[in-house]
Amino acid sequence: MCSAQNVCLCFFKNTYRNVCFLKNINSINKGVKNLIIVMLGAPGSGKGTVAKLLTDTLNIEHISTGDMFREEIKSGSKLGKELENYMSDGKLVPDDVVIKILDERLSRPTAQNGVVLDGFPRTKIQAEHLKQLLEKRNKKVDVAIQLNIPDEDIIYRTVKRRICSNKDCGAIYNLEFNKPKQDGICDVCGSELYRREDDNEETVKRRIDTYHKRSEPIIKYFEEEGILYTVDLRAQDQVTKQDIDKWLKDINKKI
Ligand code: AP5
Ligand code: MG
Repeated sequence: MCSAQNVCLCFFKNTYRNVCFLKNINSINKGVKNLIIVMLGAPGSGKGTVAKLLTDTLNIEHISTGDMFREEIKSGSKLGKELENYMSDGKLVPDDVVIKILDERLSRPTAQNGVVLDGFPRTKIQAEHLKQLLEKRNKKVDVAIQLNIPDEDIIYRTVKRRICSNKDCGAIYNLEFNKPKQDGICDVCGSELYRREDDNEETVKRRIDTYHKRSEPIIKYFEEEGILYTVDLRAQDQVTKQDIDKWLKDINKKI
């Protein structure tokens, strides 16, 4: 995981195995403001869950391309129908469509104090475009956090996932590991929970396949950029706000 030219500081804890920090994650030094964080990981690895904890802690914007696309589908637009065809098939939306949408989103005032990018980039082309999109704004990715889980955990994590239908809340539950107190109701805001269309076993298997073929290779891209931070998790491991505080502090300490 860690290349020779990057000094990799690894440590082992009970919960997180093999957490690696590459030394040139140096822009964390600029403080909690303006951080650009990329979340990498397979379907159901916990990108959305961790992104929420990070954005709450750092008070920065959460941009999930998957959530944006689901909103577009809900609106019933022509673009939404096009997106639905790809997503329900477990395929990636074409790069040019995603990049255009992200460019617009990064221009919004709410994205100026830092962002957590959840689900973007997913291809080398997207990663290269992200670099350009940020360069023209005098910014760059500070850290790419990769969540590693075994493939066999993905199915029951996704199939048993339930999500709050209130998009301002968007709390994520799991009927196995993180049940809501009342069946079908969000603990946080009381709205109804729903199951995603693409969270059925057949589509999840296709999403896993797409991930390995098209998205996994970009881990190397961020490793070569010297900003990859990898956390290995098992399905039963719950990431808490305290864990996020520790990760961020530890990064700060070791650079
Ligand atoms: P997207 O919505 O991003 O889906 P995904 O990548 O498949 O990831 P998920 O949202 O399913 O999982 P997650 O990693 O966020 O996990 P979560 O935190 O919810 O994308 C959907 C589709 O949109 C794609 O398939 C593609 O078609 C399209 N798309 C999106 N972006 C694109 C792009 N850039 N380019 C092209 N196409 C794009 O957690 C999962 C479950 O596990 C939950 O139930 C949760 O409670 C539980 N859980 C989380 N963490 C833990 C833990 N530590 N221990 C135990 N359980 C946990
Ligand atoms: Mg997600």
